[in-house]
Amino acid sequence: MNNYRIQFNKLCLSGKELLYVAEAIIKGHASGDGAFTRKCHTLLEAELGVQRALLTTSCTHALEMAALLLDIQPGDEVIVPSFTFVSTVNAFVLRGAVPVFADIRPDTLNIDEGQIERLITPRTKAIVVVHYAGVACEMDAILAIARRHDVPVVEDNAHGLFARYKNQYLGTFGCLAAQSFHETKNISCGEGGALLINHPFYVERAEILREKGTNRSRFYRGQVDKYTWVDVGSSYLPSDLLAAYLYAQLEAWESIQKKRKLVWATYAAGLADWARGCGVGLPIVPEHCEQSYHMFYLLLPSLSRRQALIEHLKRRGILSVFHYLPLHLSEMGAKFGGVDGQCPVTESVCDRLLRLPFYNDLTEADQNDVIESVCSFGVATAAA
Ligand SMILES: Cc1ncc(COP(=O)(O)O)c(C=O)c1O
Repeated sequence: MNNYRIQFNKLCLSGKELLYVAEAIIKGHASGDGAFTRKCHTLLEAELGVQRALLTTSCTHALEMAALLLDIQPGDEVIVPSFTFVSTVNAFVLRGAVPVFADIRPDTLNIDEGQIERLITPRTKAIVVVHYAGVACEMDAILAIARRHDVPVVEDNAHGLFARYKNQYLGTFGCLAAQSFHETKNISCGEGGALLINHPFYVERAEILREKGTNRSRFYRGQVDKYTWVDVGSSYLPSDLLAAYLYAQLEAWESIQKKRKLVWATYAAGLADWARGCGVGLPIVPEHCEQSYHMFYLLLPSLSRRQALIEHLKRRGILSVFHYLPLHLSEMGAKFGGVDGQCPVTESVCDRLLRLPFYNDLTEADQNDVIESVCSFGVATAAA
């Protein structure tokens, strides 16, 4: 724990977490795929309308499963945004893929769909999109390109559970999608994730990969009389204790989203004038996107102004954070030929973006304190 008065993130409970974890223990099922895992699967499938949802130990592992399901081989190319968390890319690189980095749009900070087509080659095996901050990528255009070139789309929807694009839930557009239930996410169990499967072709193999390469799921359903090793795989399923915790949060998803919507709207209203006066950018959410209210960020005019605001907030006991570093310029990115200037929007945004404290139970008083502290950074200081 640090000395900040107002943390960037805080573990928030919806009420029944301990009860359900106790229930799982009392019922004597702590390993994976117990009653609570099944409840989570059913809830996600029913609410989102996906063919199959499978809990995983993280979003990273759901992405690794996606790479295995798409049979990514050494030398295959995967189109990815450079502005993302390392797992979006690493899951495919782990299979030997070469990441082909695309830049982002300056408004939503999502992959620039206008760049994708010219990055496609005969070796392109997937387009991986990230719905940054839970605001949808331009899925109509992306899916049209994917169809034209017969390339599958994977959605990294770590931020975007229950967000929508033209009224359809994110995670239901690509053949596969990955969710995160990490502690920093709207709905969490500490560490966790889910693979969403939108095509029946992938369902059975996904069950096998997740269960160490065995057909244990078929055995449990009585479809085979013993289970055995049938494919490659790993252990991607979480304990039912984590699923019990998660189920308590998933059951409460509408009230969690309502709270976060209010936090987001309060920041947007409270900072609008200051941002306009200082030339600071606020998140842009297109009309046809219902966002997930995952985060609230500021785009400062420069790296030095961003760092100065972090320090300013720190002096007032408020923790604000930045992310990501451009992946094409990272040590690994450089090994794949990443060079300065390749993704100019990403490079600029990574220097200037700042995330404000955001969690389900952020109190009105604390949030007002953050808003006042940001505004006290001052027009002259921010614009300097
Ligand atoms: C876009 C994105 N993808 C993937 C991940 C990885 O999620 P997890 O920690 O559940 O593996 C994150 C983590 O925050 C993320 O921001």
